[in-house]
Amino acid sequence: MAEKKEFQRLPLKVVPTNYNVTLTPNLTAFTFTGSETIIVEVKEKTDVVVINSADIEIQSVKFNDMTGEITMDSEAETATFTFPDMLPIGQGSLSLVFTGSLNDKMKGFYRSKYTTPAGEERHAAVTQFESTDARRALPCWDEPACKATFDVTLVVPKDKVALSNMPVVSESETESGLRSVTFARTPIMSTYLLAFVVGEFDYVEGKDSDGVLIRVYTPLGKTEQGTFALEVAKKTLPFYKDYFGIAYPLPKMDLIAIADFAAGAMENWGLVTYRETCLLVDPENSSSSSKQYVALVVGHELAHQWFGNLVTMEWWTHLWLNEGFASFIEYLCVDHCFPEFDIWTQFVNQDLAQALKLDALNNSHPIEVPVGHPAEVDEIFDAISYCKGASVIRMLHSWIGDEAFRKGLNQYLNKFAYKNAFTEDLWDSLAEASGKPVREVLSTWTSQMGFPVLQVSETLEGGQRALTITQSKFCADGKSPEGDFQWMVPIDITCSTDPLKPFYTTVLSSKSSTVSLDGVKAGDWIKLNPGTIGVYRVQYSSAMLDSLIPAVSNMSLPARDRLGLQNDLFALARAGLSSSVDVLKVAEAYKSESNYTVWSDLASNLSTISLLTQYTDCSPLMDSYNIKLFSDVAARLGWEKKEGESPLDSMLRALVVSKLGHSGHNDTMQEAMSRFEQHISGEKSLDADLRSAVYGTVIKKGDKSHFDKLMKVYETSELSEEKVRVLRVLGYVKDEEQITNVLQFAISDKVRTQDAVSCIAGVTSSALGRQLTWKFVQANWPKLSAMYDGGFLQASLVKISIQNFADRSVIPEIKDFFEKNPAPAANRVIQQSCENIELNAAMLERDREAIKAYLTEMNS
Ligand code: BES
Ligand code: ZN
Repeated sequence: MAEKKEFQRLPLKVVPTNYNVTLTPNLTAFTFTGSETIIVEVKEKTDVVVINSADIEIQSVKFNDMTGEITMDSEAETATFTFPDMLPIGQGSLSLVFTGSLNDKMKGFYRSKYTTPAGEERHAAVTQFESTDARRALPCWDEPACKATFDVTLVVPKDKVALSNMPVVSESETESGLRSVTFARTPIMSTYLLAFVVGEFDYVEGKDSDGVLIRVYTPLGKTEQGTFALEVAKKTLPFYKDYFGIAYPLPKMDLIAIADFAAGAMENWGLVTYRETCLLVDPENSSSSSKQYVALVVGHELAHQWFGNLVTMEWWTHLWLNEGFASFIEYLCVDHCFPEFDIWTQFVNQDLAQALKLDALNNSHPIEVPVGHPAEVDEIFDAISYCKGASVIRMLHSWIGDEAFRKGLNQYLNKFAYKNAFTEDLWDSLAEASGKPVREVLSTWTSQMGFPVLQVSETLEGGQRALTITQSKFCADGKSPEGDFQWMVPIDITCSTDPLKPFYTTVLSSKSSTVSLDGVKAGDWIKLNPGTIGVYRVQYSSAMLDSLIPAVSNMSLPARDRLGLQNDLFALARAGLSSSVDVLKVAEAYKSESNYTVWSDLASNLSTISLLTQYTDCSPLMDSYNIKLFSDVAARLGWEKKEGESPLDSMLRALVVSKLGHSGHNDTMQEAMSRFEQHISGEKSLDADLRSAVYGTVIKKGDKSHFDKLMKVYETSELSEEKVRVLRVLGYVKDEEQITNVLQFAISDKVRTQDAVSCIAGVTSSALGRQLTWKFVQANWPKLSAMYDGGFLQASLVKISIQNFADRSVIPEIKDFFEKNPAPAANRVIQQSCENIELNAAMLERDREAIKAYLTEMNS
């Protein structure tokens, strides 16, 4: 890799207080012109001003009336202005004139393609500034701590909608027949939260109970797809106001769906931008899980309006404060709006399990990690910042209690409103509110990577029953860690007498500790981590584990505990601390399981074992195992929705159909085929909840004609959710030629860049597809790398193309390739994926014979 210059933050001798910026995008030439006057404060004697600027040409710069010289540094993404005289200390104004282009990389000021209802292709101009791309739209101090106010004017064609963070204050016609739209001054805020949108949109609107005007902007003619998100937003803003004890400070909140969007959504203050699939809900064609996801995303971005926008991290090192927090709060919102989703149980699967999986790797990183260069910043938008961040906050919330938590939050938000904060500032407020040693305990979770496994066994101490609990770092490969790790671990313990209420609570602050079981009835099972709230794994003695299994089968153990128990067991097997066969055996205790989320987590763990069996001759045996395991729940649910059934049952039905379909269950395949034909012919439309499962089964088990029919669905559907549903399964095709075609299709102009990764991911589900994908990625690297131009989409592409191999010999090839073809924002992901390959290979070597013997025996 090329030597990088040492990264440096901007010198702050001169800082901005207000930007008055005018931008004129040209939606046909894909360029823009800009001018800005920045009110600055000169704090120290200097004759140079350094600010961020990238891919912009600056025509002129003046400090008051003094013209400056301009030097660009494209590596550092800065512009340096040198003036003939020293700048007077105090207030001054910096005036700039510049031009740039509306790029197609989904960052900075970019163009997004859409089709009008009449079928015409057009472009909108939109922004995505987080983390470090505001500098591609306007020269600015592009660091989160350089807060200022913004007066924005957009000069746009008359028939276009123009939006920014604040409401419009004035409009006028320009000499050239354009419309000049000026927006109200923003509050003091960071540059990464600024946003502009120019294009054609329709909207639905409403007011929340505090009179905040909320609009959901949709593609033309599709306003009905905005009403779901509007309802969520209307409920959520007042809910957060109450929860944080602070009102949303802006007069309006726009939510807008953008056709081309790199992330899922972006929390720009007052103008939140979304990928279409994260905002739009079609009454006929959206699935329950999509609705749930839209609610989570809306809840997440609205949480940022307080956590991130009002109070902002001082530097990207503290990114997790933004993302971990919003990823926790979004669940509060969905729980408030839609209790029927039992969303906190899904947290365990969506966030905690993802966090533990990634954080057990040797190539993980602490929640707080020093970052400098933009590529390093991109790298930390990962499951550590999001999922581990959220999980640590959930553990903290449970430890100090909701009341102290809210009180501390309120204090923190008030104290740092319109300012910036460090992680420690939050700990201090929460410590003050709770009277607990928050900083001491929490810093063990944020400043070291990883998490502990607690070894638990029952002993007799002088005739008295007792538990011995010992902590050590959990490593995915089961080895002892290098270095000394220790956590302060909040621990709850329950027993069968009351599975919900802990009989013992402590904070483990040493390596090992003993707990008396005096009060526990003989014969009671004992369980650590009720609710699966702690960020740790538990390894029980076999006697203790055995006593818990009946409580799984009869479901007297609560759902979150059933989920956590098998999740830990699977991780222990993967680490070689138990065997895959143990997992297969314990899974059978879940045969009568009724909970969607428990099934979902179990199914994904079993998929890992299935993945390994792809490299053996016992794939068919594993299929039979799955068919048996899922048969009871399949029979209970059937194919038709019951009147008034819970969305979780609908989601479970989809999971079961998909699992049985992929395992080659005859009845399921036939039913899927016939429902697919009815759906395509228009005879009977398929319930949206079942479409992914049915499409996937049909592609995997069907022929070219099915493929063509599904491709037609892709081409004719106007709903992004439906298109992506198809893209995800196209790669399930069998033969080499078809697979290659799907890969080519993924990067053709028929697929939006934002969606290509979903399509390629589908291909990697089979052993052959995986191999072909890796070849394809290498062969097409220049194109792929230009498509994503760094960033987290590139990182996910790299990850999906390599992580599921189970043969170590590919690792040197991967490392060699990325030595020669750097993917800066994917460096850590490459290390992590190679580690995952090692883990797959080790698990396969260790367990292949035992798995085969067990599956053979059970199928005979
Ligand atoms: N702030 C992020 C958007 C973002 C992500 C900007 C990565 C720059 C790089 C936003 O709040 C976010 O977290 N979006 C998530 C959705 C959320 C529900 C997890 C996303 O984009 O996936
Ligand atoms: Zn976020």
